[in-house]
Amino acid sequence: MAETIRESEIVTLAGTKFSPGSEILTLLARQSPEIRGDTRVWMLNDSKLWYASQNQADAYLKVDSSEAYKKGMHNAEHACIQTNMNTIIGMMEPRVSFLDLGCGNANMTIGIVKSAESKGRDVVFYPVDISPRILSVAVQNAKSEGVKTRGLNGDFELLGELLNETQPERQRVFNLGANFVNFNSDHILGLISGVMRSSDLVYFSAQISNNHNVPEIVEQYRDNPGAKGMVFGTLAHVGFSPKDLEYNARFNEKTKEVEAYAVVKDLPEKLKGTGIKPGDEIVVITSYKPSLGDFESIAKKYFDGKLISDPEMTYFAFLGKKKKPGLRL
Ligand SMILES: C[S@@+](CC[C@H](N)C(=O)[O-])C[C@H]1O[C@@H](n2cnc3c(N)ncnc32)[C@H](O)[C@@H]1O
Repeated sequence: MAETIRESEIVTLAGTKFSPGSEILTLLARQSPEIRGDTRVWMLNDSKLWYASQNQADAYLKVDSSEAYKKGMHNAEHACIQTNMNTIIGMMEPRVSFLDLGCGNANMTIGIVKSAESKGRDVVFYPVDISPRILSVAVQNAKSEGVKTRGLNGDFELLGELLNETQPERQRVFNLGANFVNFNSDHILGLISGVMRSSDLVYFSAQISNNHNVPEIVEQYRDNPGAKGMVFGTLAHVGFSPKDLEYNARFNEKTKEVEAYAVVKDLPEKLKGTGIKPGDEIVVITSYKPSLGDFESIAKKYFDGKLISDPEMTYFAFLGKKKKPGLRL
């Protein structure tokens, strides 16, 4: 059957109805705050909320091209990809649907697609993002590099809908990249492995924590106007203004996540019935910083594959295929 790729189009996924304000109210209504010592802690750590408005999307697009942002994890991931490009492409079949889950501006993944094409792979690129504004930048970036592209606007957890857009005869590459760290690992890896066929490929990555680097990692978040902007920008959807909030970041030893959060000083009218009180904390960003051992064991729980890293070995990624069912006796 001849393939029809409608180049550089953007498709809105059917299940996509996203209103950040009501999403936040629903998340709050479904939870009781966690009690930590004398403090009540609310969780609003859904990455869909961080880029949902035009202002948030523009802030991300600006921060992503700033040198300060690139110095941190962004550079480490770039180095990881560049160092291991042959390995990554070596696991791709001749014909590929490349799904970029939470693509952002897609500059990093467009680099992979271009390299794959230069090594003879025929790739259709599917950037997926909840933000139409960010997705249109990704599609434009891909188009200007001459990549065959179909942008998908919506929640990438709707994997079934994404698969309907791709062609079944091609190998699917699921690129979760650094977005992995913003999800519960079992949840997101379970979802992806659940739709993978034996020939499909997954890629995801994380900054690795060890006995020495946690204070430095937390500092990267604490002293970070971009992260603070994401926390305040998310809370603005329910009426908080910056004067109502105080920003901070910490490492949660139990979950191995950095938590970027706000302490509530004053409560907007809209939230008076939610149970939130001044003095409460609202965690907006969580970013998992696994040890290398934990990263490898969660990856190998779902996939067979290999670990790759940047030359400094601060940043690791996993390239894998769906785990073959073990022999059950
Ligand atoms: C950090 S940014 C860009 C990451 C990009 N892959 C990179 O490495 O540069 C994360 C992007 O994922 C998108 N995103 C987050 N959660 C999403 C979800 N559940 N569905 C679709 N897009 C999502 C955001 O809108 C944002 O553009």
